[in-house]
Formats: sequence, C-alpha cells, structure tokens
Amino acid sequence: MTDTRKSPQGEWSSHFAFILAATGSAVGLGNIWKFPYITGENGGGAFVLVYLLCVVLIGAPIMIAETLMGRRGRHNPITTMETLTAEAHADPHWHYLGWMGISAGILILSYYSVIAGWASGYVLKAFTGSFFGADAPAIKQQFADFIGSPIQLAFWHTAFMLATMWIVKQGIHNGLEKALRWLMPSLFVLLILLVGYAMTTPGYFQGLHFLFNLDFSKLTGGSVLTAMGQAFFSLGLGMGAVMVYGAYLPKKVSITETVVIVSLADTVVALLAGIIIFPIVFSNGLPVNSGPGLIFETLPIAFGSMTGGWLFGIMFFVMLVLAALSSSVALIEPAVAWLVEARGFSREKAALWAGLLTWLLGFASIFSFNSWAGFKLFGHNLFELLDYVTANLMLPIGGFAIAIFAGWMMTADHSEAELDLPKPQYQIWQLLIKYLAPAGVFFVFLHVVGVL
Ligand code: TRP
Repeated sequence: MTDTRKSPQGEWSSHFAFILAATGSAVGLGNIWKFPYITGENGGGAFVLVYLLCVVLIGAPIMIAETLMGRRGRHNPITTMETLTAEAHADPHWHYLGWMGISAGILILSYYSVIAGWASGYVLKAFTGSFFGADAPAIKQQFADFIGSPIQLAFWHTAFMLATMWIVKQGIHNGLEKALRWLMPSLFVLLILLVGYAMTTPGYFQGLHFLFNLDFSKLTGGSVLTAMGQAFFSLGLGMGAVMVYGAYLPKKVSITETVVIVSLADTVVALLAGIIIFPIVFSNGLPVNSGPGLIFETLPIAFGSMTGGWLFGIMFFVMLVLAALSSSVALIEPAVAWLVEARGFSREKAALWAGLLTWLLGFASIFSFNSWAGFKLFGHNLFELLDYVTANLMLPIGGFAIAIFAGWMMTADHSEAELDLPKPQYQIWQLLIKYLAPAGVFFVFLHVVGVL
C-alpha cells in the first residue's frame, strides 16, 4: 500500500542524491563550529567518547526510525504523524510531535543563520586579507569588533536567510541536489588539506591528546546532556527534518545503509574539524574554552601565517557557508512542506513566510552578542538559551518520542516492511529502538535533573 503513497513535493532522483542531501543536512556548523567549541568547554576526550556512544547507540537507531516514519507517511511531519497514528490506531495527540519539530526547526535556524552569517562575513575578511600577519590578540579583537556590531551581523544574517529561501523555493531537485553534488566532496578535500596544515604546527600532538585522551574527572551531568544534544543536533535528528527528507526517499532504497553512511560521514567531519582546530589553539597558547567564537579566533591565525593562507582562508569560510546552507534548507523544509501540503501555499510563498519569521527571530540572537549582552535569563543570554532549549531539550525529547512511536506504536509488520532487513539485523534495531535508545535519553535527563 505504501508503494502508491507519494510525497506531493516529489522524490530524490537517486539513492546518491538522498545520501548527499542527508549528509548535507547532517554536516554543517554543528560539526565545524559547534563540536570543537563544546568539546573545548567540556574537557576533551571523555566528552568526545560520550558523544560517539550517543551517535552509535541513540542517534543512528533513531535516525533509522525517523527516516522510515517519513517514508511511510510521505508528508510534512504533522501530516505524516496523522497518517501514521491512524494507521497504527494510536492516540491522535501524537501529531503534536510534528508541531514540536517544525517549531524546533525554525528556532534553531534563527540562530544558525546568525552564525552562518559570521562565516559569511569571514569570507569577506579572508578575501580582503584581514588576517594577514595578524597575531592571536589581533584576530581576537577583529572577532570582538565584528560580533559587537549589530549592523554587520544583521546584514549577513539577512543575506544568509535570503539565500536559504531562494534555494528552498526552487524545490528539491533544482535547488538542493545540484548544489550538493560538488559541495560535499569539495568540503572533504579542503578539510584534509587543513589537517595537513595542522600536522605541521607545534601543538599537533597536544591537540590530538586533548581530543582523544580520556579524563573522566572532567565529565559532569551537564556535559553528558550536551554530548547527547550534540549527537541529535549534528545528525539533524528529532525535529522532522530527517522525516521530510525520508518522505522524498524512493521505496527501493535501503534506509539502514544510508543511515550508516550519513552518520559515519558526519562523525568523520566533526573529528577532522577537531583535529584541525585544537593543534592551532595549543600552538598559539589560546584557551580551549573560549566558546562560540573558537573557530573564528583560531583558524584566521593559521590562514594569516601559512603559505597559501589567503586562498585556504577564503575556501574554508566559503565551504563553511555552503555546508551551513545545505543544513539550513533542511531546518526550514518541515515548515515549508507543511505550509504547502496542509495550508495550500505555493512553495515560493511558503519559503517566504517561514523565512520571514525565522529572520525576525534571528534578531534575538544578534543582539545577544552586543546590545542585549547583559540581558540574562537563568544566567544565559538569549542565544545560549535558544541553543540550550532546542538542542539539549527539544531534540532529545523529539527523538525519544520518535523511538517510542517507531518501537511501540507502529506495528512490527510496518516497520519491517520499510526497513527490509534480514531478521537478525531487524531484531537488533528493534532492541535499540524499543529499549536502549529511549532508556538512554531518559537516564541522561534523570542524571541532569539530579535524580541519578
Ligand atoms: N546537523 C546540522 C549541523 O550539524 C544542523 C541541522 C540540520 C539540524 N538539520 C537539523 C539540527 C535538524 C537539528 C535538527 O550543522
């Protein structure tokens, strides 16, 4: 019966196109900007290990579940949840999962776009040679001046949102697939080149040691939650982005195989980013825990002093912007698909309205770095709060609900038909999705509220 269900938005043109789109959604600022700075803030190796465990034991099984639910429902997250609950005779309240996902996507994109705006501004800085010969304090000052200027941040945030809306309005074939075909491979190549540079720095081994040495004394309940939140964020899970991408997936494609490829690629990119950044941090005697500015305060030092640094600098920040674009289109797609499918909007209009709302919300983050920097709730500025609530709470809760739905509400016949795996593998997935993944999320939460 599902064979006859089709997404109103069309389908990916091939298995490879889906892998590219899913990798494009997964690989983004989360890997290159966020992973290094939260690893720095949470003490290094032990945090990385917890992160990797979360990816394998919680993230990957839930990604399989989210994709298969999307492909079975074939619509935006809300309509998909309505279809699936009807099919499973489950409680119709499950469709709120779709609502939470769409809202999380918009909230995340509102600050994601501001950071992608930083990267865009840094393309220009790289191009005009601002890093040339600058030492660590000078680079730090440039960054402080940049984020201290609401006008500059607003300009780049606006430019990035316009680019996102423009790609989204073209639909999945023309907009996304074309760009991704050359984007993802070039990103990989550039990262490898930069690893080559990092190897020549005096702090190379110290950087590796920080990233891979296990010192569990530095691990707190908060860092375990951050690691789990990061696994969800980096894979792009728990808010229906994977669900809508799954809705565009042709029936024949193996979901598990795709998920293995995508989560591996995502993890490799995050680790490469760490291997590039920490050696530069240590070589220049910089603090590892400097927060969201970390890559903007470290990499330019390298670009300003290495041979070919001008070109590498431009290439790096261009790639970062493009990697962010292939994620931002995924963050907004659930809202756009819903406006088109359930509200009868054209794709253009849907992209316009969802984009406009996100753009407006973005100003809360922009001002967090300057005019409203003193405004704190629970000790955090608005940007930090948005990041905490979405990544550490909404995504894991969404992921937990997805695991419960796929594991306990959907009939095994249905999930088995979608996954089409040999029996033993299917049973392993069932074990993970029914017990291990939800229990994992649950225990981390208990740990954080102090019960455990
Ligand atoms: N995974 C992307 C990154 O690492 C961001 C992203 C895309 C995302 N889609 C998502 C995050 C869905 C959460 C949910 O940069």
